Amino acid sequence: MNILVVGGAGYIGSHMVKRLGQAGCHVTTLDNLSSGHRDAVLCGEFVQGDMADRPLLDQVFAQGQFDAVMHFASFIQVGESVQAPAKYYANNLVNTLQLLDVMLAHDVKHLIFSSTAATFGEPQYVPIDEAHPQQPINPYGRTKLMVELALADYDQAYGLKSVCLRYFNAAGADPEGHLGERHEPETHLVPLVLQAASGRRPHISVFGRDYDTPDGTCIRDYVHIADLCEAHWLALQHLRQGGASDAFNLGNGNGFSVQEVIDTARQVTGQSIPLQEGPRRAGDPARLVADATRARQLLGWQPQYADLATLIGHAWAWEQSRH
Ligand code: UFG
Repeated sequence: MNILVVGGAGYIGSHMVKRLGQAGCHVTTLDNLSSGHRDAVLCGEFVQGDMADRPLLDQVFAQGQFDAVMHFASFIQVGESVQAPAKYYANNLVNTLQLLDVMLAHDVKHLIFSSTAATFGEPQYVPIDEAHPQQPINPYGRTKLMVELALADYDQAYGLKSVCLRYFNAAGADPEGHLGERHEPETHLVPLVLQAASGRRPHISVFGRDYDTPDGTCIRDYVHIADLCEAHWLALQHLRQGGASDAFNLGNGNGFSVQEVIDTARQVTGQSIPLQEGPRRAGDPARLVADATRARQLLGWQPQYADLATLIGHAWAWEQSRH
């Protein structure tokens, strides 16, 4: 299979490129390296470029003879999306629509799209299943939802088949230690906690301890990057076998609080990890937990690394190998 991975130099994309390579696919990565890393693309062809560059896209598609596209190329910071919505609408929405145009022009009809729990907004109930209303509360979530809606229309009108995968909290690192999380700046809890464990940060700030949760800190559903990649692989098989367009929530169904993540990281690393109490971060729901029953039932998805200590252990091995 020939697969185009857009955003294949980023955190999730790079793990996927490796996974596809191991499955024997011929992989082409397109990435503008605005936040990705060239050395994270461990196999296949690499093209440095932007989804906004239509002539480049046409050239890549003309050469690639792709069977499917996986699209990971997005800006992902919720806070930044509130301050700079134009950046988010231009890239996450407009550039994605252009990518879809090019797919149709080159008769590539299968897409796996990275969506997010942020499309749901403030939870009305947890765990969140696919029937939960989608009412995003920030531009980031809105751009992702708009693409989801466009994809439903594009299937209806043009026969473009897609699977939208709504990640909850992607975390962890390649179990073989070759890849991991390298956002700059880093905003995600697990890598920040581990940077505090290794002394690269003075402490981890806890954003609020007055939430309506057992220890007062926010609860999230941390899903291992390798399990996310497996879900993409299964979603691809689903489309290749003639499956209908669909959307799936991806998480373990287990919520862990910020305090539990820090405590587990203390156990895994053997480090004390200094902690500082901070104010709430705007826009953080108290509790986000996925109901991934549909992905398990329809795709046959079975997370292998649902254990938080294992996930943190892989991220810690990566953190240590880098420095
Ligand atoms: N947190 C801290 N201190 C930090 C960083 C994070 O206490 O230094 C807390 C946050 O307040 C939150 C939890 O740790 O309660 C997880 O925060 P992350 O930033 O790691 O992840 P989010 O849940 O905010 O975001 C994730 C994805 C987003 C997506 C969102 C869906 O990274 O892309 O889930 O709501 F939009």
